[in-house]
Amino acid sequence: MIHYLCVMVEIQKQIEQYSNEINVFTASDADSLEQFRIRFLGVKGIVKAMLGEMKNVPPDQKKEFGQIMNAFKVLAEEKYNHEKERVDALGGANKSNIDITLPGNPLPVGSRHPVTLMRNSIVEIFQRLSFTVAEGPEIEDDWHNFTALNLDENHPARDMQDTFYLSTDPAILLRTHTSNVQIREMERQKPPIRIICPGRVYRNETISARSHCFFHQVEGLYIDEHVSFADLKQTLYFFVKEMFGEDVKVRFRPSYFPFTEPSAEMDISCMLCKGDGCSVCKRTGWLEILGCGMVHPNVLKNCGIDPEKYTGFAFGMGVERPALLKYGITDIRLFSENDVRFLEQFSGI
Ligand code: DAH
Repeated sequence: MIHYLCVMVEIQKQIEQYSNEINVFTASDADSLEQFRIRFLGVKGIVKAMLGEMKNVPPDQKKEFGQIMNAFKVLAEEKYNHEKERVDALGGANKSNIDITLPGNPLPVGSRHPVTLMRNSIVEIFQRLSFTVAEGPEIEDDWHNFTALNLDENHPARDMQDTFYLSTDPAILLRTHTSNVQIREMERQKPPIRIICPGRVYRNETISARSHCFFHQVEGLYIDEHVSFADLKQTLYFFVKEMFGEDVKVRFRPSYFPFTEPSAEMDISCMLCKGDGCSVCKRTGWLEILGCGMVHPNVLKNCGIDPEKYTGFAFGMGVERPALLKYGITDIRLFSENDVRFLEQFSGI
């Protein structure tokens, strides 16, 4: 009897100790959890060993002891399941002893190019006026880049848009403006047409701080019945207010483009000197930002649209110049040099 008593006191003491150990246990990773499992719940584990001690318990106390043993077993199992859930939820990150509470290693993320940022904001404003984006090829034929735009073979205005030819056949060239897309779209679809055409264009020009042999434009075109110059002005007023702010003034100057009649150039008051005159606006107080006009009847005819029924306006603007102004960049060449020190300044914009 004494022997029994001693054994039972001993077992009870041990269970108490092991229970304390289980209660304070937290698995730092999957390995320590596995060690816990082997130690307590394994085939040769403590729980099994304790249960084995039942044979030493006198029959009249087996019931009471059975309950103690069972509670011990459940304690170990529950602890194991709870910790397993937690360790699994950490996705095994603890496996390699990584402190997952530390901030991660930042991955270098690229940033949008300033020209892309400017193009997107131009396009987005016109999309709000229900213009949809249309795109066309950069390698173009003579018809879509020049002839259909009322610039036939010997037209003097071609001089201002000398370009690069892709073969000895002068009919294949790099487009000099995005106006080719208005031709392609008018050939493709019937009015009403309301499109905005962003894209890259090329000209045979000497590269300097202010000009490049390739740059970007956004073209706009609206063709329908009864479209007037008033619609053109109101559309562009809206654009200027949204893009440059309420205080910016706008003026239209008569101009000439073979594909529009009448034609105009649109200036905005210089936002740097507020119209007083500075080096950026060449002391005029104005900055030229786009060309525009009412689509020439010959252009409509060239695309199979009846100029007696339909009228329309078009405009074209460069993307680099407003980007230079907006971001205070002084050399257009920076846009294409791919210098990461320059480009990374636009991250987060
Ligand atoms: N294509 C002209 C250029 O590159 C810009 C332009 C002017 C486009 C008037 C137009 C327009 O659609 O109506 O200089």
